Amino acid sequence: MQHFSVELKQRSHPVFVGSGLLDTIGDLAQAAGLSGRTAVVTDSNVGPLYLDRLLRALAPLDRHPLAIQVAAGEHSKSLDTLARIYDQLIEARFDRRSIIVALGGGVVGDLAGFAAATFLRGVALIQMPTSLLAQVDSALGGKTGINHPLGKNLIGAFYQPRLVAADITLLQSLPEREFREGLAEAVKYAAIMDGAMFAQLEQEAGVILRREPAALEALVAKCLRHKAAVVERDEQEHGLRALLNFGHTVGHALEAATDYSGLLHGEAVAIGMVAEARLAQALVGLEPHQTTRLQSWLKAAGLPTEIPATWRNDRFFSALSLDKKREHDQTRLVLLRKIGQASVVSVPSHELIDYLNAL
Ligand SMILES: NC(=O)c1ccc[n+]([C@@H]2O[C@H](COP(=O)([O-])OP(=O)(O)OC[C@H]3O[C@@H](n4cnc5c(N)ncnc54)[C@H](O)[C@@H]3O)[C@@H](O)[C@H]2O)c1
Ligand SMILES: [Zn+2]
Repeated sequence: MQHFSVELKQRSHPVFVGSGLLDTIGDLAQAAGLSGRTAVVTDSNVGPLYLDRLLRALAPLDRHPLAIQVAAGEHSKSLDTLARIYDQLIEARFDRRSIIVALGGGVVGDLAGFAAATFLRGVALIQMPTSLLAQVDSALGGKTGINHPLGKNLIGAFYQPRLVAADITLLQSLPEREFREGLAEAVKYAAIMDGAMFAQLEQEAGVILRREPAALEALVAKCLRHKAAVVERDEQEHGLRALLNFGHTVGHALEAATDYSGLLHGEAVAIGMVAEARLAQALVGLEPHQTTRLQSWLKAAGLPTEIPATWRNDRFFSALSLDKKREHDQTRLVLLRKIGQASVVSVPSHELIDYLNAL
């Protein structure tokens, strides 16, 4: 097991990565100073697999924890589902010392996290991520929120958990496509900030794809340590944290252009990272073989890396110009300098679109 702390002054909290945490989380939470009425929020895929074990493990905090199961899928990140969570917490007379545990992928983490941020102006939150994407990315960092019919993640709050516990044995039941999608976010950290990690990923692609526990523990812990280092320096994304958006400017536009149904998020990010690496070749002289290394790894992981011609449509380009990171007709883009190093650069939006058209 690996253990470290995210240092954020009074919001500092421990992170655990290892096997079997699902059964010991009650003790870990107690050691972190938590006890009180406890609710677990999970979804309809994860609940049947792991909820009973978690409820038993929570006995040190609460002998009769409340279980709240929502439908699996992005559409549960909604005001309706959030309202049903509040209803159940209020009916069960939860108070300010209560605890909410998010057991699931990024959808459950964002939804339950926002419920914890807002219920009674904030109750304790434990993140128990179960998808690879959530374990390497969304469970740490404090971004919580839900979607609005007019856009993703439009309603939310920065709210730090009191504890993050990534039990890598839970990844064994993750469907193959969702597992590979998480790898896109994992390799992102190596590409932008750790060249040695990238070289190691090149060596270990096989054991990672076979989901060997030691390899998964090392991978998840390394990603979370990198994310923690960024969040510690820029919790609310005023600057440095934007580096983590590598691949996401193009990726988000692809997701929007396909109505969030053609591609999984990580797949869109995989395509986006390669497109943005090519932009870096044109704009800051990234050597082409660095793009090739990144693309080869993503392909070997079974991820898409090219924008299908039919998607280079008006919706894609208008989504690009509506990107949240756009300011005064400039798009903030993460440009690779080499594998392991990147910087955030403002590019006039029309130039970005011209470059992408030319790729
Ligand atoms: N807060 C952040 O910083 C942040 C960062 C990245 C993404 N996100 C959000 O995360 C969401 C995507 O997360 P996701 O990819 O985890 O999606 P998800 O939560 O929908 O999980 C993907 C699928 O895998 C299933 N699943 C999860 N764990 C499983 C397991 N162990 N075994 C079997 N099935 C399992 C889920 O039920 C779901 O069907 C998006 O809403 C995105 O906006 C948030
Ligand atoms: Zn992402």
